[in-house]
Amino acid sequence: MERTEQLSQIKVLLSRLDSGTNVDAGGVRLNPTASYTDSSIADTERDLFFHKHPQLLGLSCDLPEAGSFFTSNDLDTRILATRDDDGRFRAFVNACRHRGVAVEEEESGKKRRFVCPFHSWSYDSQGALVGLPKEDQFGEIDKECFGLIELPAEEKYGFLFANPDPSGTVDIDGLLGEELSKEFDAWNFGTFGRLGGDRYEVECNWKLAIDTFGETYHFNSLHKESLANFFQGNVQCYDTYGQHHRMILCKKAIQEMREWPEDRWEITVAGLPVYWIFPNNIVMPSDFGLYVVRAYPDKSNPGRHTSVISFYVNGEKSGTAKSSTVPADRQALLETAPLEVLSEVAQGFAAIIRDEDYVASASQQRSAETGALDHVIFGRNEPALHHYHNTYRAALGMDLLPLLDPTSMK
Ligand code: FES
Ligand SMILES: [Fe+2]
Repeated sequence: MERTEQLSQIKVLLSRLDSGTNVDAGGVRLNPTASYTDSSIADTERDLFFHKHPQLLGLSCDLPEAGSFFTSNDLDTRILATRDDDGRFRAFVNACRHRGVAVEEEESGKKRRFVCPFHSWSYDSQGALVGLPKEDQFGEIDKECFGLIELPAEEKYGFLFANPDPSGTVDIDGLLGEELSKEFDAWNFGTFGRLGGDRYEVECNWKLAIDTFGETYHFNSLHKESLANFFQGNVQCYDTYGQHHRMILCKKAIQEMREWPEDRWEITVAGLPVYWIFPNNIVMPSDFGLYVVRAYPDKSNPGRHTSVISFYVNGEKSGTAKSSTVPADRQALLETAPLEVLSEVAQGFAAIIRDEDYVASASQQRSAETGALDHVIFGRNEPALHHYHNTYRAALGMDLLPLLDPTSMK
């Protein structure tokens, strides 16, 4: 985020804090709980959002050098991502061209050749079929025609995006739009390093996982013993960028920061920016790095999903960072053993998502599935929820959720 934008957003947070106001969606909307349970909606989402739409596979540092690779099994299409000998990011369908076995099972590593475990056909980091045993007995094939199926892929602003549909496209600037592209460019995610990650299988629809990142109304109750120590609940900035949006949550550290000279103000001390990149990505730059949460639907059950949480560290800040989400008595640790402690802080944050947010999400799913509720309500102070769901609905060709007429609620 550019400096002028940081200052202007910090001032919005301060004025909302001082006036006791919050963003206002202009009214409330009812969201049918079928959105979380209906299997035909789930099938269409998987096809349109998770097969025919570019996917955020990771950050540049997930492929740190030529020969690096990682695999992704979270989509219907299994993907092998590589950085080839020229340093170029590439993505392939992880399926051997002989009879379809995945050529790589390991999560990540460094390799010059990917050798299929079934009959040992081998491929290089550019996906070319470079060898097959007993070629004379197998029969003649043109090896150039049987490389791994390559997927459209692009690396920009530190993001690695690929389209699981080989006939699709990826255009990161087109996807994000000019304003958000500029903002992500300023974050320098391309210089960040990987710190760790976790994955959670949760008994709730993937959109309920996304919903939990859509408001801070719940901080003073659900997170009263955890995040509420560091965040000011129910105060935020909110802006939309086409299908995407940006929230900025307010940290309590903003009160101390306001006494500093303005040239020392930083948005990640005053708040936590939370970007939603359509359809399933939450990107949160923190004071020492970045959290990325991606929610993937289960293949057959709309009431289950997997959340993949990744932590990254900002190389420029590690070792010197003071985190405004870490108690003062632990600040010294940040400087003496930065990576281990930052990793622990990141794990702690992920555990809150697992143990608090996703427990509530699973409870919501149960109410939806048992038919206990036909609808849930999105409040005026929860504009992200309005935007998520109307964006999903528009993309699915469904009617948008209207603002509710208060007189019709009696
Ligand atoms: S399926 Fe891969 S070598 Fe046969
Ligand atoms: Fe939460």
